[in-house]
Amino acid sequence: MHDLSPRPGDLEPIETASVDELRGLQLERLRWTVRHAYEHVPHYTAALDAVGVHPDDVTDLSDLARLPFTTKADLRENYPFGMFAVPREQVVRVHASSGTTGRPTVVGYTRDDLDSWAAVMARSIRASGGRAGHVLHNAYGYGLFTGGLGAHYGAERLGCTVVPVSGGMTERQVQLICDFSPDVIMVTPSYMLSIVDEMERQGIDPRSTSLQVGIFGAEPWTNDMRHEMEQRLDMHAVDIYGLSEVMGPGVANECVETKDGLHVWEDHFYPEVIDPVTLEVLPDGERGELVLTSLTKQAMPVIRYRTRDLTRLLPGTARTMRRMEKVTGRTDDMIILRGVNLFPTQIEELVLATAELSPHFQCVLDRHGHLDEMTVLVERRGSASLEDATQAGARLQQAVKSSIGVTVGVDVVDPDTVERSVGKMRRIVDRRRGR
Ligand code: DLL
Repeated sequence: MHDLSPRPGDLEPIETASVDELRGLQLERLRWTVRHAYEHVPHYTAALDAVGVHPDDVTDLSDLARLPFTTKADLRENYPFGMFAVPREQVVRVHASSGTTGRPTVVGYTRDDLDSWAAVMARSIRASGGRAGHVLHNAYGYGLFTGGLGAHYGAERLGCTVVPVSGGMTERQVQLICDFSPDVIMVTPSYMLSIVDEMERQGIDPRSTSLQVGIFGAEPWTNDMRHEMEQRLDMHAVDIYGLSEVMGPGVANECVETKDGLHVWEDHFYPEVIDPVTLEVLPDGERGELVLTSLTKQAMPVIRYRTRDLTRLLPGTARTMRRMEKVTGRTDDMIILRGVNLFPTQIEELVLATAELSPHFQCVLDRHGHLDEMTVLVERRGSASLEDATQAGARLQQAVKSSIGVTVGVDVVDPDTVERSVGKMRRIVDRRRGR
């Protein structure tokens, strides 16, 4: 794989500034954000008044802990434009997240917001190993989803030649990769797997393409999946994180030279980790729910937004800014099976450790009587015989029992039979009554 480490002069000064300088900038920006939200968003005026905190009371970063949380429900209640802190005419773009139930949540951006977003996205692509002059294949979906346009403007800002493919039409994705020779691909990890399968189906060796780095996000994926992708594609696989409510992709990104977790771009987003039950702020290093406060957003500032994503904060390494560990899952995606908590990422690790099984799997939940049951529906690899794959399924079942502590069913099925997605993969299929 190519050495894509940054060269001297590549980084922005703030990426390697001292921690003190960074904290100073954050405090200044936090004070501005709280005042801006309090003065212009009725929801925040009421929420801050309710806890008796005035923007003037924020004099230290630790004062953040006194401010109320913001949740997805708050955004829904203010649908569509009630959380905007600027007149609607100054909002030059909206995006929305596809709520599975009820109203979507709408987010808005001023021209300056789009500028900051492009800047942090460009920084993210550079951290991943992308450079001005690279050809970048963007297979994140374009539209209300923030992935496509977010990546697009960041890549243009960095100076890449962007191929705005969006998701879907997998055969054409492969053709464009072969014909345009991109250096970088941006796509969800699950859709990347479908693209690789399609290359193999067409008789193209995925290791022979021009791709040097894949920037994968929008859904959880494990280090075992990184290993799988890097082996199959002979390229770097780097993690990108973000969410629409806070901005979109580019809130945090791994550095290709370390691949040791995602540096949160703390000059724009202040991270905290809380205990999701007691809501107490946890010290760095402890696992809990990530909470983010925007520091520069004009159109839709968010204070202490509860992401529901589980991770922990770690000190900076390749950059001054703190890292967040790869997200293991969302509190909403935690499966409680006969008293044992588990996440699809734990299943992913075990599936990928089983050579005869492919990374295409789903966790199917059923209820028999009063008992919840889970079956891992997983494809055998095309190279494995039916018999070997069946035995591998039995080993997977044992591995789940011994490492997670719960009995699940394993159903090994033929290649190409588990649902595919062109964006975010649906890992959990819940067939329990009333769900
Ligand atoms: O998924 C933004 C994005 C687009 C990020 C492209 C990265 C790349 P939403 O649709 O609002 O925005 O979904 C946000 O997706 O709260 C996480 O649960 C999950 N998520 C995003 N990135 C990661 C990641 C975009 N790297 C929700 N690892 C978030 C794990 C992720 N989960």
